[in-house]
Amino acid sequence: MSDLKPTVNPTVEQLVERSNRLGADPRNTNYAGGNTSAKGTETDPVTGEDVELLWVKGSGGDLGTLTPGGLAVLRLDRMRALVDVYPGVDREDEMVAAFDYCLHGKGGAAPSIDTAMHGLVDAAHVDHLHPDSGIAIATSADGEELTRTIFGDEVVWVPWRRPGFQLGLDIAEIKEKNPQARGCILGGHGITAWGDTSEEAEASSLWIIETASAYIAEHAKAEPFGPALEGYAALPETERRAKAAALAPTIRGIASADRPMVGHFTDADVVLEFLAHAEHPRLGELGTSCPDHFLRTKVKPLVLDLPASASVEESIARLQELAVSYREDYQGYYDRNATPDSPAIRGKDPLIVLVPGVGMFSFGKDKQTARVAGEFYVNAINVMRGAEGLSSYAPIDESEKFRIEYWALEEAKLQRMPKPKPLATRVALVTGAASGIGLATARKLASEGACVVIADLSLEKAQAAAAEIGSADVAVGVQVDVSDAAAVEAALRATVLAFGGVDLVVNNAGLSLSRSLLETTEQDWDLQHDVMAKGSFLVAKAAARAMIEQGMGGDIVYISSKNSIFAGPNNVAYGAAKADQAHQVRLLAAELGEHGIKVNGVNPDGVVQGSGIFASGWGANRAAVYGVEEQDLGKFYAQRTILKREVLPDNIANAVFVLCTDDLSHTTGLHIPVDAGVAAAFLR
Ligand SMILES: NC(=O)c1ccc[n+]([C@@H]2O[C@H](COP(=O)([O-])OP(=O)(O)OC[C@H]3O[C@@H](n4cnc5c(N)ncnc54)[C@H](O)[C@@H]3O)[C@@H](O)[C@H]2O)c1
Ligand SMILES: [Zn+2]
Repeated sequence: MSDLKPTVNPTVEQLVERSNRLGADPRNTNYAGGNTSAKGTETDPVTGEDVELLWVKGSGGDLGTLTPGGLAVLRLDRMRALVDVYPGVDREDEMVAAFDYCLHGKGGAAPSIDTAMHGLVDAAHVDHLHPDSGIAIATSADGEELTRTIFGDEVVWVPWRRPGFQLGLDIAEIKEKNPQARGCILGGHGITAWGDTSEEAEASSLWIIETASAYIAEHAKAEPFGPALEGYAALPETERRAKAAALAPTIRGIASADRPMVGHFTDADVVLEFLAHAEHPRLGELGTSCPDHFLRTKVKPLVLDLPASASVEESIARLQELAVSYREDYQGYYDRNATPDSPAIRGKDPLIVLVPGVGMFSFGKDKQTARVAGEFYVNAINVMRGAEGLSSYAPIDESEKFRIEYWALEEAKLQRMPKPKPLATRVALVTGAASGIGLATARKLASEGACVVIADLSLEKAQAAAAEIGSADVAVGVQVDVSDAAAVEAALRATVLAFGGVDLVVNNAGLSLSRSLLETTEQDWDLQHDVMAKGSFLVAKAAARAMIEQGMGGDIVYISSKNSIFAGPNNVAYGAAKADQAHQVRLLAAELGEHGIKVNGVNPDGVVQGSGIFASGWGANRAAVYGVEEQDLGKFYAQRTILKREVLPDNIANAVFVLCTDDLSHTTGLHIPVDAGVAAAFLR
């Protein structure tokens, strides 16, 4: 039956299942943290003989979603033979390249730095994990003693050592000398456990994790973070969110001084509780410990040293001072630890910013990275709670953190990363994006790397459009009536809380009534002007405030119309509102340039496909005016154009994209006609 399917070795199947189970529970390891392995035999296609192999989770990837393709496959005899050529700990990094000469066949995923630990330990199944409970013991000042007290001789303490070949040799020796041991606590770092069978390894891992956490629950002191700090308790939710949104653009600007970042915000209880207690400034300063954690969080966070009641203005002023000292401090850390062959400094800005009473802002090159950085700081808080509860938190030394952060192997990994997309790190807000031109624009901006907020009248439609574009790391939907100032402010707050700030705003929301002057009611006039003229004014105003606070420039693009230039019958309300929008482009370009904010417009015409405006009466009306069938309207418009081409929503989206790229970095106050050529609407 399974003749046609490539057979998966049962050892591999077990390994993947075990990894997925372990990775599914965040108490067992952090996202993409840790690795697992199994040793077994397969027939060597070259000799027809049995060959002993090591399958080990490759570099990158998450245990929870590991598939056989994520495993590196090495020949065990060759991998172990490396011991004979190992040049010593000073040159242990060279062994990573040597792993490539041990691969079986194409070898699967790239072997990670932890491969040695898995291959050298004499056990058929090995798990290396970063559980908060295990790291709590690993980072306790008296971790070695605690390990003995909690686990007896079944778990052995391994003093901190940077991951690599030597750590693998150390653990292999420990296993050999302690045949009764089921695993070890790796000082400052995590745990490693093993077994003769996959079940046994999994049981050892879970036993260590659960025993550590039960011990912490039973023996930890009542207030591991110290007594409650007067004035530092969490603000009520609405107030807290409002303050977070008011601070977000400034904080993103701080985190982006060296390079633009996407932000993530959380006000999870665990964060608020940490910040509400007396020891948080000291612990914050000590920084994170597990290498996985501080590679994503930087060695330490920036902590606002003001109570929850501090005003937004006070908080902003203090954050700006703290940002300066954070950067000096980071430069000091680099200078103290760098050697002549260290990679260049990578940016001095914080990746984690903590605001008492409010929550945590975390940053990364995209939303997923920013979110995971926040998750890792939550892991670190859990670790500190456990360690302080039993003993005192003692992370690895600064110099060791530096050796990890500026490790040549880490640098090589960064250099291998694909070039970012043109709009990477940019946060876009597109109004009226649940349909037509707006939807096509949101899709285009997302496909070019932007994070996108889809704002429209119907929350349901906005969310459906966002879901079609991607996960919440890529696009989110929010409800807004752009003619309502309070609703616009709320949409801006939602935007900055979703992605940290805003860089790119597309004033696209609109609707169209085609009526003669005498048939146009006052309500018609007001509606057209409220949604398009006033609506885009309100959105531009709210967005510009955030952009100015961020200090990262920005783009505001108006979807105006050919009708802002062209005069024809039955169009007085719509055409005048479009002309208003078109002049806002010039006015705001003149005003906002000093903040690096460019303001441009796109003038579409005759976009029938996908347009709600055309589907809801305007199309029928226009068709009647021109004496053609409604379904032929797109072709009719095409024939009126110079290029004789139908204009599609994607054509407008492409123009918006171009306006926002670096290619047009020196262009503001411009309108781009996207109408396939209409001489009567030429700009002059
Ligand atoms: N389709 C064309 O040929 C054409 C030509 C020139 C200009 N435009 C302009 O392009 C923009 C998009 O038009 P489309 O053709 O994609 O239409 P569409 O009807 O498909 O999309 C407009 C979207 O705006 C939303 N919207 C309306 N009022 C809103 C409000 N008060 N607050 C928030 N959202 C609101 C609608 O719900 C809808 O999803 C409009 O500004 C329109 O005037 C379109
Ligand atoms: Zn590790």
